[in-house]
Amino acid sequence: MKRIAVLTTGGDAPGMNPAIRSVVRYGVNKGLEVFGVFRGWWGLINEELKLFNHRSVSGIIHEGGTILKTTRCSEFYTDEGQDRAYQTVKKHSIDGLVVIGGNGSFRAADIFHNKYNIPCIGIAASIDNDINGIGTTIGSDTAINTALCAIDNIRDTATSMERIFVVEVMGRESGFIALKVAIASGCEDVIIPERKFNLEATCHNIINGNLRGKISWMIVVAEGAGGAVDIAKQITEMTTLETRAVVLGHIQRGGRPTAFSRILALILGQAAVDCLLNGKTDKVVGMNAGKMVEVDFKVAIQKKQLDVDGLYNLIKVLT
Ligand code: F6P
Repeated sequence: MKRIAVLTTGGDAPGMNPAIRSVVRYGVNKGLEVFGVFRGWWGLINEELKLFNHRSVSGIIHEGGTILKTTRCSEFYTDEGQDRAYQTVKKHSIDGLVVIGGNGSFRAADIFHNKYNIPCIGIAASIDNDINGIGTTIGSDTAINTALCAIDNIRDTATSMERIFVVEVMGRESGFIALKVAIASGCEDVIIPERKFNLEATCHNIINGNLRGKISWMIVVAEGAGGAVDIAKQITEMTTLETRAVVLGHIQRGGRPTAFSRILALILGQAAVDCLLNGKTDKVVGMNAGKMVEVDFKVAIQKKQLDVDGLYNLIKVLT
């Protein structure tokens, strides 16, 4: 293994930059030549790549997003797109790829390896924390803290103006972000895809609370479980109380990575390069229960079962 390339694909996650820094610097220190590929698989298809050195990744450790840029590239899922990506890899004598991203990225890397026998190692980076077999993905801690700050701010208005707020957070099909921010911000309720939700019962609690003088409520909803605007409308109809909806959206994906996200990214960058040097392929490197793990692509892209019981029940008994 002499030459490797690193790319970021799918939705950006805070901590991708420190991961790139780690792959490039550790790889170069190990005697490898390391290419940075721009815009994910699109960059391989269109031959947009550059040989990186130590300086190429200076001053990025604290920045959100990805200096390599990223895309969700549908062209990669065509035979022509895959062949063109392979031609770029061959032309530049690239012996292995480090793919930083989420489920879609690993599905694509699995196809690429199986079709062309190019070793591929994944680094789990996604705010959704939905990679099967991986405890914590790069960026999820940052996204939780960003959403938490936003909800803390909204609470000031909820308390001062005695209003009900429904705040929608990201997470695709996963309730991970919603559950974590709901408990950490002291929200009264949380709506996640992993649990059935009875809006009538919540409205009943709101009306009863209102009679006892508890007027402001904060409810967090995961995007995969419903829309904040629609839920707020239903609460207003059922309770006749003023209810506002806030959709946090992409604010959760940006911003400076937390120390946790950065350190995780730096550790996993090194681990990914070591995997390639040790002849491994088709694996996602990550942390699970405080230990380094290597999870097969085929396992990593399965639906992750989130263990929600503990935190979900705690929110209920603390309201
Ligand atoms: O996977 C990360 C994520 O931010 C999800 O939480 C969200 O559903 C999706 O990406 C949004 O993607 P896009 O930025 O392409 O709209």
